[in-house]
Amino acid sequence: MLIQSIKGFNDILPDESPKWHFIERTAREVFETYGFREIRIPILEKTALFARSIGETTDIVEKEMYSFVDRGGEQVTIRPEGTASVVRAFVQHNLYSPPGLLKLYYMGPMFRHERPQAGRYRQFYQIGAEAFGIPAPSLDVEIITMLMEFFEKLGVINLALQLNSLGCLDCRPQFKESLRNYLGSCQNKLCTDCQKRLSQNPLRVMDCKNEACRECTSGAPSLIAFLCAPCKDHFQEVQELLGALKMPYQVNIRLVRGLDYYTRTTFEIIAPGLGTQNAVAGGGRYDGLVEELGGPPTPAIGFAIGVERLTSLLDNGGRSFKLPTPQVFIAALGETAESEAFQILYKLRKEGIRAEKDYDNPSLKSQLRKANRSGAPWVIILGEEELQTGRAIIKEMATGHQTQVNLTEVVTWLRDKLT
Ligand code: HAM
Repeated sequence: MLIQSIKGFNDILPDESPKWHFIERTAREVFETYGFREIRIPILEKTALFARSIGETTDIVEKEMYSFVDRGGEQVTIRPEGTASVVRAFVQHNLYSPPGLLKLYYMGPMFRHERPQAGRYRQFYQIGAEAFGIPAPSLDVEIITMLMEFFEKLGVINLALQLNSLGCLDCRPQFKESLRNYLGSCQNKLCTDCQKRLSQNPLRVMDCKNEACRECTSGAPSLIAFLCAPCKDHFQEVQELLGALKMPYQVNIRLVRGLDYYTRTTFEIIAPGLGTQNAVAGGGRYDGLVEELGGPPTPAIGFAIGVERLTSLLDNGGRSFKLPTPQVFIAALGETAESEAFQILYKLRKEGIRAEKDYDNPSLKSQLRKANRSGAPWVIILGEEELQTGRAIIKEMATGHQTQVNLTEVVTWLRDKLT
């Protein structure tokens, strides 16, 4: 019986990889220009790490994690996101010492047992960045600017930057209380999930997509009105700095994010072309998480980009991502010529030249047709006669011009033409 891949787990086929490479290369270029360095984090972590950082009552921890007890009896989870692991590594390896700004980025697959649909998968890739040590609003804006510049470099346009502030542990509890009171009158109309959220995590009711829940929250108080003075100033300054850079944004009071570690600035990048799953990136500050995971009090901020969603935006941009064609094709006829071709192929590739040959060894004519289809600009022709004279024919496909070159000089001759 044919074994198929698991629902929500996708193959990225060779035709698509150039696009992924382009995205990853651009991320590295842009992030490194901003002083970020790569960190590679494990895919498997102790379940407690995610439960404690993302929050016990979030959808991710309650319903979506791939968790299991390993053979040693340890409760482990395949990572649903990267921030928790980066913070764990930051604390575990004392990366807070010496104190100051530390900027890290990562890329790789994440796993959430969500209902698969267009733009939502169970294994999906994120490119993320996290900056530690600086509470200033200018860092928030620097991070957002870097993200927007990354999209610009990819040629992805028409994105909307949505912004909110989730306050801090001083001011958020009052807002939660007021929201709980407000929604109390509507309790019976809320979906079953939101009825539960109302007591445990009322903020999450704000971004429920259910029509009845949206109606209930339509006149709800805004967290912004409850911000304490330092949080209000912070949010104000973020907006002023964005304004100074002429970076358009919209304040969205429903933007509460699905993870509990956030404080103050939160943001999402929305691509209207993506349909229901329209957030191509999301992030924010998490000033309490390092301390929560056993480190010294350290402000931090970051984001993660959904790579699959981003690749579909690149599609829409109509760019073409061509696979590299071979630079040289060898057409050889006869056993001895075939063995000579095999050695030339090896030497060309050692020189870094993309070279191919035919493996069926049919007529020279059909090999030349293949050479033509391959797109290679140069073709080496090796038959009995060429072997006897010790000179191969090299054909330039664009002009049809043929040159005879000593077999011992073929590789250097082509290297000079191609580099
Ligand atoms: P998140 O909003 O859960 O944030 O995910 C970030 C991005 O990952 C989303 O905007 C989306 O593009 C993509 N994504 C999430 N779930 C899926 C899915 N099931 N299928 C496809 N794409 C998906 C975080 O993960 C935070 N760690 C971001 C962060 C970093 N905040 C601070 N630092």
